[in-house]
Amino acid sequence: MGQNHVRVYSEIADVVGIADPDVKAGGVVSNRFNVSYYTDATHLLKEELDAVSVCVPTEHHAKVALDVIRAGIPVLVEKPLAATVEEAKRIVDAAKKAGITLAVGHIERHNPAIAAVKRHVQEGQYGDLVTAAARRVSSFPGRVRDIGVVMDLGVHEIDVLRYLVGAPVESVFALGGLSGVALDGAYRLRAAAIPREAGRPGREKKDIFERIEQAIDACETAANILETILVKHA
Ligand SMILES: NC(=O)c1ccc[n+]([C@@H]2O[C@H](COP(=O)([O-])OP(=O)(O)OC[C@H]3O[C@@H](n4cnc5c(N)ncnc54)[C@H](O)[C@@H]3O)[C@@H](O)[C@H]2O)c1
Repeated sequence: MGQNHVRVYSEIADVVGIADPDVKAGGVVSNRFNVSYYTDATHLLKEELDAVSVCVPTEHHAKVALDVIRAGIPVLVEKPLAATVEEAKRIVDAAKKAGITLAVGHIERHNPAIAAVKRHVQEGQYGDLVTAAARRVSSFPGRVRDIGVVMDLGVHEIDVLRYLVGAPVESVFALGGLSGVALDGAYRLRAAAIPREAGRPGREKKDIFERIEQAIDACETAANILETILVKHA
């Protein structure tokens, strides 16, 4: 993803340099765009920079983003902001405290199709919103192995739905099981977000963590059942 950032930045600004400990990966990008190359990001941060994009694997977002914030430079961190909520909060708190601009690469917000749907929803062209659903059909990117498919790819759909509906998530549920073709043994999850305003009057609000725990239990149960079926038929 980093090379896409360099490609676009090089069309609109002067790119000072890139950093990547992997010389092969970094060398290709630095040669292609003719920019300085560093194996250590902290060395790049000593340059005079107006902004930095953090496009490292998600498990390293917190460390690298906090280094950029400490260096006093505005930062765009690729999605998801961090691998855990605690790390994401640390990044947000550090940026607020230092008065540094922090952005997250939720690129779908800038997709012209999403912008058109948002406009139609706001203008009431679809009538009263009853339900909104998203389905991702794509191959399985290798990098997903560090944080899982819900965090890596599902954040796009969750963010887009929240943006379009314009309301916070009220509850979460998930249905899961081993894929029929057992692709990488990955769990296939479907999740639904229900906006607060759409809640039925008088409906008991359950603690969100209780709901998530139940969802996880349901996923594991479904996975166990499927495993048993697969073993029986093997
Ligand atoms: N917004 C989007 O649609 C979108 C699309 C793809 C990826 N991403 C995000 O971009 C990030 C990177 O994904 P990717 O597919 O490019 O991964 P990748 O593994 O292909 O590339 C990551 C690069 O970061 C380098 N790296 C590791 N640690 C580093 C460090 N401390 N300093 C500098 N470089 C370091 C690695 O050597 C590697 O070359 C992920 O967080 C991913 O979720 C976002």
